[in-house]
This record gives sequence, C-alpha cells and structure tokens, in this order.
Amino acid sequence: MPIKYLENKKTWILETKNSAYVFAIYKDNHIKNLYWGEKLINDYDYPDLSSYSLRDYWQWDDEYTVRGEANYVEHCLKIEYDDGVRDVVLTYKDYIIKDKTIIIVLNDIEYNLEVLLKYNLIEEYDIIEREVEIINKSYKEIKIESFATGSVYLPSKKAKLTYLTGMWAHETRPQKHIIKEGKKILESRIGYTGPFINPYFSIDYDATEDYGEVYYGEIAWSGNWKITFQKQLYERIAVVMGINDWDFQYILNSNEKFSSPKIILGYSSEGFSKASQSLHHYQIDYVLPKKNSKELRKILYNSWEATMFNVNEENQKKLAKKASEIGVELFVVDDGWFGNRNSDKSGLGDWFVNPEKFPNSLKPLIDYVNSLGMDFGLWVEPEMVNPDSLLYKKNPDWVINFPNRPRTKKRNQLILNLAREEVKKYIISFMKDLLKNNNIKFIKWDLNRYIYESGWPEIDKKYQKEIWVKYVYNFYEIWETLRNEFPDVIFESCAGGGGRIDLGIMKYSDQFWTSDNTDPFDREIIQEGFSYGYCSKTMMSWVTDWGGKTSYPIEFRFHTSMMGSLGIGVDLNNYSEDELKLFKQNIDLYKEIRHIVQNGYQYRLIKPSEETHCSVQYLSKDLTEGIIFFLENPEKLNLFDYIDIKLKGLNNQSNYYVEDYYEKISGKALMKVGLRIDLSKEMIFGVKEKAHFRSKIIRFKKI
Ligand code: DGJ
Repeated sequence: MPIKYLENKKTWILETKNSAYVFAIYKDNHIKNLYWGEKLINDYDYPDLSSYSLRDYWQWDDEYTVRGEANYVEHCLKIEYDDGVRDVVLTYKDYIIKDKTIIIVLNDIEYNLEVLLKYNLIEEYDIIEREVEIINKSYKEIKIESFATGSVYLPSKKAKLTYLTGMWAHETRPQKHIIKEGKKILESRIGYTGPFINPYFSIDYDATEDYGEVYYGEIAWSGNWKITFQKQLYERIAVVMGINDWDFQYILNSNEKFSSPKIILGYSSEGFSKASQSLHHYQIDYVLPKKNSKELRKILYNSWEATMFNVNEENQKKLAKKASEIGVELFVVDDGWFGNRNSDKSGLGDWFVNPEKFPNSLKPLIDYVNSLGMDFGLWVEPEMVNPDSLLYKKNPDWVINFPNRPRTKKRNQLILNLAREEVKKYIISFMKDLLKNNNIKFIKWDLNRYIYESGWPEIDKKYQKEIWVKYVYNFYEIWETLRNEFPDVIFESCAGGGGRIDLGIMKYSDQFWTSDNTDPFDREIIQEGFSYGYCSKTMMSWVTDWGGKTSYPIEFRFHTSMMGSLGIGVDLNNYSEDELKLFKQNIDLYKEIRHIVQNGYQYRLIKPSEETHCSVQYLSKDLTEGIIFFLENPEKLNLFDYIDIKLKGLNNQSNYYVEDYYEKISGKALMKVGLRIDLSKEMIFGVKEKAHFRSKIIRFKKI
C-alpha cells in the first residue's frame, strides 16, 4: 500500500519507491507536514506529532498555508468573504484513499468553502503530483486573492537552490546559491512561462551528480507562476508553488469550483543525475502527449534562417530538395508565408496564404515536399496581431488593453485577449481550416511578446483580473481541441525562443524550441540547464550558422545539436557538396543513435557551467548501448594534456566494446578508470573566432 493512514497517530504516510511524504492531523483540525525525504524502514520511524508538544509550531508547517489564524508562512490561499472577513480557518473533515491517490477534505469552520488537497504518487520515479480544488458551497460569492497549489517543507541547513534563469537567447542558464533567511521569489509576471526564469527548482545539500539528496519541483502552468522559498530561524524551508498572486483576483460564485495547476515534487537520494533522469522519464511516461511520447522525433529542416520573411514556392522547393538529399524527414516553413507578412511590421492575424508568394496556395509545395519523402510543417503565432493587419482593422477591441492607455507594441505587435471566447473561437477555427485543408504534420506555435497593459475593459471590473488565468485556460483548450482533432500532427511550443517551456504546455506539445541562440558554444550552458528540468527529446537543437559559418567546425555544431532532437537551420545553398556530404553523414549517424539520446538516460559527465569543457553521456533504456559527447572549450586553459572521463550507469561485471578505444573492457573499468581524451594536439587558446573547437563522439555497446 503506497498510502497509509495510521489511525492511532492520525498520520498519513505516502511512499514511493525510495521516498516518503508524511503529514498528520494536529489538534484535531490542522494538517501539518512532518516529513519529506528518504523512505524509512518502519512506519514508526517517521517523525510524528509528539515532537510538536515541545514548542508551538502553530504558525509553520501547514500542509496548505492560508491567510488566517496565526499562520506566518507565505499563503497559498487568501480570500475575502462576502461580508468582508479576510481570515480563512480550515478544519480537517475527511480523507479518501484510492490506490496511489489521496484527497484530504478541509472546510472553513464558518463559511461553506471546501478545499480538497489532492496527491498522486508516481512511485517508480519518486514523484508526487499535487493539485488543489476549492469549491464555493455557499450562496455568496468569494473573492480569491491568491491561490497557490501547495506548500512543502525542506531541511534548512546548508540548503542550496538551483534554478534556471536567462533572457531571450540565453534561456535556462543554471544558477546555484545557498538559501539565506528571508524570502527568495522566482516568478513570471508576463502572462506566460517566460524566458527569464523557468518554473523549475531543486534544493540539495552538497549533492553531486551521483551522491546526496536532491529535492526538486516544477509547476505545470504556462501563465504567471511563482515559487517562494521562505527561510526562518529554526524552521524548515517553506516552498510555496503555484499561480502567481501578483495582480490576481478570481471570483468564485456560488457552487463554482476552481482547480489549481498541478505541481510536482520529486526526491533523489542519489544526486542530480538520478533526479533529472526520474524527471525525464516521468515526462515521457506521464506528461507528453501519449501518441508520440515514445516515438522518435523526426529530423527537421526549418528555412527561417535561410530565407527569413522572403519565403516563396520556388525558394522553398529548392531548399526542400537539398534538405531531402541530406536525410531530413520534416521540412518546415517558418514565419512569412501568410497575409501581408514581408517583415515583422505587418500581417500577424491574417492567417491566409500570401497569394504573391504562393500563387497556388501551399499545396504544390506540400506535394513536392511529400514527393521527396518528407513531412511538411508550418509556423504560426496565433495569439498575436500586428496593428497593420486586416484582423486588427476589423477587431481593434480584441487586443489586451486598458482604455485611454497606450497600446505598447513589442516586435510591432499586440496580443489578442485569448480570455475572450470569440478570440478563442477565431483561433480554433482558422487553425482547424489550416490543418484540414493542408497536409500539415507539424506546427511550430510561436509567441513573441509579453502581456502588459493587461486590461479587459469589456467585462465587469471585478472579473477583469481573471484575464491572467482565463487566458491560459483558453490557450490549453485550443491546444487540446487541435490535438484531439488532429492527433497525427506534432506540435512544438516556441515563445521567441525558449519562453514557453513548462509541464503545463508539455501535456499538449511534443517538443520545445529551446532558444533562438543556436551558437554551439552558448548552447552548452543552455542545454545543461534545460537538462535539469526537461527531457532531451523535447529539446529542439538546430545546426545553424549562428556565431558564423566558419567559427565552428560542422562536426562541433552537429555534436552539440545531437544531444537533443536534431534540426537543421542553415541556408543549405551556402554549402558545398562536400560540406553537405558531411551533413548527411552526421544525420545518418544521428538516426542510428537518436533512440539512445531521446529515450535513454542522460548523465552530465562534465558540466560547462562549473567545469572546463562539456561532456554528456546517454545510455539506452535497455542499458546495452550508449554514446558520449565531448566538446572541447578552447577558452578554458588546460593545465593537462588529457581529460579522463568516467562512464556511468554501466554494469560492473559486463564487458563493453568502446569505439576507438577497446575491443573489450569491463563496465567497472570504464566507470572507475574511464576513457582518456587526448587534448594535446594543436590546442589554440584565444578569441572564439580564432579558436579551434574540437569535439568527439564515442559509442559503446555491451558485449
Ligand atoms: C521567433 C522564433 O524563436 C524563431 O525561431 C522564429 O520562428 C521567429 N520567431 C519568426 O518570426
């Protein structure tokens, strides 16, 4: 039984394969969190409420923190009742256990408000999914001023936080620091997940990749989100996660429900590798759209960086031919194919094929692409509108705005108010037409500006702040509708780079556009950060000319991109036949190894954020074959001529064949002694342009 209730101790124990999570009923009414960590041997081993008599824990450790009574921890729930009372007092009512799920039922002692705390155990990955539902069972409306999904508590001493920050073209860069007393907030206030901080964190205690305890969490929400870490003397660190309460208000009318987004909480006692591997496989098995979750991602070519807005039937056909010759499987036309879209100044919103660029619509191009044996894909940015468009002329009120305030543009565009039903319907309708009338097998869904001036003047003032939440719900509904109706279409979530990467959209999208920055050297850090929170099959990695065509050898660019789902974005017309042969060789190689990269186990052998160079190992799901990527960093001075890299995850007793190294060697030797990479040849130190970026791939196989 993964979930137990100990009647004598009024305590619940939730156990996964290696972890446990414990809470109990305190003073007959409050649910207090007692433990989260490694699974112990006996039920009586876990902390219980007896320690609570020693001091007054009243204000800390609530399993679900509310603004009420003496609770001092950052609130999950803050409410104003109809009579002006702003104090919530929840009392325990009941619980329901069903297999791996448990629901704790709480009620306000006076008002008819019910709060359901829901837990679902993903036992094999040591992950707990949490959700909260609130139900207004009264006759009066309730004003909700904050509604986070959960509070959780972690050991405080030496707790080190890891999180992912950045900006456009520099997303998911890992940051680490010790958590000090006070509050640390990670959040988004721009209406979607955002490129600045990703809704992922981990907390460890001097853990390494292989040893030590790592706790981690993610929020499945593509709107404004917030994670607060609150540290106070003598207390455990409180972590509160969920929808951001900034500019938030939600009216719950009589008999209405409001469900929170899911948060996930994970635990590893074997360091960061285990933590991220569990998260990756949880995503593949439980989050990604079922139909394609285990399928291998096709190698795509996207013509954006080759032709920009200047797309037309002829130049796309020319690129398609070359793409098919190097082994590409999916040809994608990016921005510029629709409306009067000749630059980023006009056309967004007018989702009809541009008749000058494609006089016979898209059909001849799609047929041609298909005749070359490739699927066809298309870029869209449905949430946006340029003021210079037919859509805006017809419906200027559809954009998010405050009356009498400026409508500030970013990239010359405004954002449609997706919270409005007519806008949602419009997007569903044109997307359905597009997918019905064309043999499209892939959609790259982009978003290139933040939400600000977040007004919704058409509705009653008291509902206007609901825009932040309703926008996201309608966004999900659109994706759900399209996915259900077009199950064979692969969807990619892009937001001017990696601005919409989170577990919420992962439920609907098969992959992420990681970053507009495809400079292979910059990518090492971006990809390392990405790997903490998201699986490599969702990480789109293109070989492009970013950083300059001649700055990096072709292999170096491929080796960087092969660590995720491979794409090509160069202008193929600029490459010689010999160079394109090299493209083909690398693509052929990727086809042989992609099942390992996309569905296997990933190990960060040398982390570019902390060490010299970069090396990542992937081991197939059945543990029989693997691949090591090694990327040299000429900017980092080496005192030694060689680097030894020790493999991971092998069987000590088994023997392995290692390409270029050993016909036969034991797993133990590969893990304890490792492979020596010789760096002595022509090392050049200096500025990037002059540097000599070398890389190596080493394949190995169990004999
Ligand atoms: C931003 C995306 O990140 C790019 O890949 C590209 O699709 C452009 N938008 C197109 O406008």
